[in-house]
Amino acid sequence: MVGSSSGLVDAILGELSRIKQLDADATRGRLFTYIYETGIPELRRLAHRAFDLFLDTNALDPTTFRSALVFEREVVSFAKRLAHAGEDVVGTATYGGTESIFLAVKAARWLYRRRAGASAVGEVVAPVTVHPSTRKAAHYLGLRVVEAPVDPESKKALPEAVKEALSDRTALVVLSAPNFPYGTIDPIRDIAEAASDRGIPVHVDACVGGFILPFLEELGERVEPWDFRVEGVTSVSLDAHKYGYTPKGVSIILFRGGELKKGTIYVDLKWPGYSFINTIVLSSRSAAPLAAAWAVFRYLGWEGYRGLAERVISARDYIVGGLRRLGFREVAPVETPLVALTTGEEELFKFHVLMTMRGWVIGLQPRVEGLAPYNIHLTIAPIHDRVKEEFIRDAEEAVKSEAPRELEEALRLVREDPMKAAGLIGESPASAVLIARLLDSMPRELAEEVARELVVELFK
Ligand SMILES: Cc1ncc(COP(=O)(O)O)c(C=O)c1O
Repeated sequence: MVGSSSGLVDAILGELSRIKQLDADATRGRLFTYIYETGIPELRRLAHRAFDLFLDTNALDPTTFRSALVFEREVVSFAKRLAHAGEDVVGTATYGGTESIFLAVKAARWLYRRRAGASAVGEVVAPVTVHPSTRKAAHYLGLRVVEAPVDPESKKALPEAVKEALSDRTALVVLSAPNFPYGTIDPIRDIAEAASDRGIPVHVDACVGGFILPFLEELGERVEPWDFRVEGVTSVSLDAHKYGYTPKGVSIILFRGGELKKGTIYVDLKWPGYSFINTIVLSSRSAAPLAAAWAVFRYLGWEGYRGLAERVISARDYIVGGLRRLGFREVAPVETPLVALTTGEEELFKFHVLMTMRGWVIGLQPRVEGLAPYNIHLTIAPIHDRVKEEFIRDAEEAVKSEAPRELEEALRLVREDPMKAAGLIGESPASAVLIARLLDSMPRELAEEVARELVVELFK
């Protein structure tokens, strides 16, 4: 009988191990994006165990799977503490930042349409630095995005410009704490006050900051006000699967007042099947990520998170200081553990390729007219405190070395044979440079269309 043979199970597990070799391994501290690694193996094992225990559940029905309710209440309650939320704040656990932001936009649309009519097209005012999930939500929900200018130095939204963009059509303002590319926090207090005067809701995307900013503040770092202590902030998203160090699949959206949350709950009692009541976009889903988050919160507690924040700051200051000595400069003020640095274009590309060849996975961000030159992005996690010296040693060697052959070949191909260059993506250590250069060589709309085509091919 299939499934009773341990030989078969072993063979499948062996194959899975081989497939796993394809992935970057965050536990070695070489990854500066995507995974937020603590470097505590016991914590990882605990999270995996909790995940495993609750994998065969369906949070769609918390009356049948009551654990889902227990976990969600505690996870939301921890997020409320992080965001200094009062009694009036209610929340929902989602599967990620994108889904939390989707719900924030949906709630705002609901409120707007109550005022302006069922088919009114509201506007979302947001700076270009907000995570694309805001524009994606507006796109899905049929709202227009009005882009608010940002200060080219600080990369923060310009309060006066945002205020000017507000109108009777504004359904929502979205700001970041911090934005992902440059790590700076928008001037939330100033903007929220103006929006609130006009009855316009303000969402703070603290997906990446929510689980670390409170601890930076406790450690004496200067943190721009971002949470429910700011009047006029009506919703906040925080991702446990970022600086909350939980496995992927947990974010929290908090609303000031149950009315807003109601705008996100989809109820359909017309259907002849089970009572259909959804708090999030997904319907059937496992409670496993919530169980893992619950376990991680229990293990770390407030003090544990503060200790990890200390390591993050120690790593960030060492790494930024080291890169400055090597001739890099910040693209925006360093306010959080997300930093962007730059140097001469050729130097930067060379650095990125050589560091990639040494196994470091760091972001390469595009140049944006009037905003930033090409730059590297680092999201610093606690594990980086352990590898910071090695990182700077490698960085120094990279800065002093000649440009590798792979880079020159890649740049030549982009000029002479872009199709062949595109074929090298994923194969060459110069992949990030290839992507950046190819995107630069065509109008954005065309690049977006090419990206769609490539994705169709990739998953064939
Ligand atoms: C500031 C910010 N908001 C939202 C998101 C979206 O989060 P997710 O990838 O969990 O959907 C991210 C992801 O990097 C982010 O950095």
